[in-house]
This record gives sequence, structure tokens and C-alpha cells, in this order.
Amino acid sequence: MAQNMLEGKTALVTGGAKRIGRAIALALGAEGVDIVVHDHHSLQGECEKLCAELEGFGVKSWIVPADFAEPSGYQSLVGRAFQASGRLDILINNASVFSPDTITDADFDGVVRQMQINAWAPFVLSREFARRAGKGKIVNILDTRIAGFDFKHLSYIMSKNALYLLTRMTAVEFAPHITVNSVAPGLILPPEGKDEGYLEALAAAVPLRRHGTPRDVTDAVLFLLKGNFITGQVIFADGGRHLMEYRNGPDSDH
Ligand SMILES: NC(=O)c1ccc[n+]([C@@H]2O[C@H](COP(=O)([O-])OP(=O)(O)OC[C@H]3O[C@@H](n4cnc5c(N)ncnc54)[C@H](OP(=O)(O)O)[C@@H]3O)[C@@H](O)[C@H]2O)c1
Repeated sequence: MAQNMLEGKTALVTGGAKRIGRAIALALGAEGVDIVVHDHHSLQGECEKLCAELEGFGVKSWIVPADFAEPSGYQSLVGRAFQASGRLDILINNASVFSPDTITDADFDGVVRQMQINAWAPFVLSREFARRAGKGKIVNILDTRIAGFDFKHLSYIMSKNALYLLTRMTAVEFAPHITVNSVAPGLILPPEGKDEGYLEALAAAVPLRRHGTPRDVTDAVLFLLKGNFITGQVIFADGGRHLMEYRNGPDSDH
């Protein structure tokens, strides 16, 4: 039987306590990966519940907090993760904010906030991971909207495009011992405050005529982590949404 190449590795998963990040943490745990769960300010008990589930896979887990709106939070995170776990082989940059703004109403502070949390913090984590680990794998979670425009989430789409650029640049800079890839999810989970109907309504515009599930994202992440000759890539886990011509993004009214 082929040896599971991820077993015994340790991963830092940002925003790992809930939704897609949680699914990634569990998918890695099921492969025998010990998990450092980065937590922002999840609901009481969410992280502990995740750690208990991870224990069920026989892997270890640690919780390390950080607010990516604060430089002190993300600048020290990789160091604190190393301190907790003793090693890191994998970094998953999943945490992100998704706040609406437009060309008309966007302001500097809002742009800086989303750039800092969604692009600059992952970049600093990646640089620190490369410096300390020296080898391993990084996966950045992007968004299918990088393939088009999203006029309703200007700062967000700027930040995800920045992270896409950084994926390719760090892939070159950190080679040959570190691979850097990305997954760009499409319609997977409804934003906070919206229900399944939100996804169903938008699924008609997806070539595969359905929305995805966190499993579609975790499958792509695992594929990238198990590969050894792929770097600087993006996998669109979006049912083909990135192939459609759109101006307002999947969130558009038409
Ligand atoms: N949901 C989708 O269908 C979809 C589609 C395309 C792309 N994506 C991408 O997939 C990833 C996961 O999506 P999701 O919907 O699961 O994300 P989410 O629920 O919006 O949040 C992801 C994580 O980011 C953390 N976070 C927010 N602000 C933070 C801050 N200031 N400092 C540190 N962490 C912070 C959140 O922690 P708290 O809750 O504690 O604040 C949460 O754990 C994101 O990168 C997103 O852009 C998702």
C-alpha cells in the first residue's frame, strides 16, 4: 500500500475554526496531519470542538490566536505556531474578510484593512514560514472572482488579486524547497447572514449548474499538498464559474 505522504506533517491553518477553514483542518487531520488552528475570535468552544474532532483522527492540535488587523498578531503567528507544535510543514492561508465596497464609496482605510488581512498578512506568514521551515508547502485560498471584476467588493477583489500575484512570486522566490499554490473557490458557502437559497439562486450561472461544497475545496488543497512538481498554480474549485464572462462577479444581480 502506498504510504500516506502527509501523515506526520504539521499544518498551520488560518481561520481554521469554522466553515471552509474548518473543513480544511479536518481533511488534513483525516490524512494524519497535526494541526495548528489559527483563531481570530471564534465563538466560545468552536476551536475546542474542532480539536476534539481532530483528536478522533489520532492527530495533535493547538490553538493559536491572532487578529490580522494588528501587525503584532500576524508578525508573531508563525513563531508562536512553531513554539506550540515544534515544527511546521504546511501553511494554509485561508482566513479572510469579505466586506462590500464599490469604486464610488471605497475609502483608503477600508482598502488597507482588506489588503492587510487578506493579502499582506498571508504574505508575512508565508515569508516567515519560508524563513523558519526552509521547506514545505503553502496553499493560499483565493476566489474565483479573480478571473473577472467584482464591482461590489472592490477592496476584497483587489486583495485576492494581490494574493494571486504573491502566490506566483513567492513560488519562484521560495523554490526549490517550498511549493506555493492556490485554490480559488466559487460558490461554496453562503456569506454570513444568507442561506442556502442564496447559493441556489446563483448556481444557474455556474457551468456545472450547481454550487460546490467545502469538500470540493479540500480535495483541491489535498491534491496540491500531495503533488511535488506543481508550484505557482491556481486551481479553480468553482464548477467552471471563472470561464464565464462577468462584470459584477457571481454576486451580481443579473
Ligand atoms: N464561502 C465561499 O463560498 C467562498 C467563495 C470564494 C472564496 N472563499 C474564500 O475561502 C476562504 C474561506 O471562506 P469562508 O467563507 O469559510 O470564510 P469566513 O467564514 O468569512 O472567514 C474565514 C476566517 O477568517 C477569519 N478572520 C476574519 N477576520 C480576521 C482577522 N481580522 N484576523 C484573523 N482572522 C480573521 C475568520 O475568523 P472570525 O470568524 O473569528 O473573525 C474566519 O475564521 C476565504 O479566503 C474566502 O475568501 C470562500
